Amino acid sequence: MSIYTEKVLEHFKNPRNQGKIKDYDSFGEKGNPVCGDVMHIYIKVENDKIVDIGWETMGCAAAIATTSMLSELAKGKSLDEAMKLTKQDVSDELEGLPPVKMHCSNLAAEALHEAIKKYREKNKKKKTK
Ligand code: FES
Repeated sequence: MSIYTEKVLEHFKNPRNQGKIKDYDSFGEKGNPVCGDVMHIYIKVENDKIVDIGWETMGCAAAIATTSMLSELAKGKSLDEAMKLTKQDVSDELEGLPPVKMHCSNLAAEALHEAIKKYREKNKKKKTK
């Protein structure tokens, strides 16, 4: 019997928005020092909204499923809304993750938040030039 919900397995088998997108405006990277897994998230932003998102995850089934779900949750959201997405939101949408795998879901939200912070940083510099 699997420790994962059907929804986790479904996202693991059919990941959404997987891969690096062309012409991305920013990206975030997070690594898990415990297991060594790494995740990259790429975002394309228009009018402060995430209009496209892509990702690469070198990690476990939970890491892949959580990035896939996060990408669906973040697409179309404003940067402010996307900054509020948490690992709990991702886990809830996946109908739960086994406690031993909760740390894997950190990566997706943190990588997205880093991508947004970098984007804002870059834009602030442009505006002040
Ligand atoms: Fe590394 Fe899940 S075991 S992210």
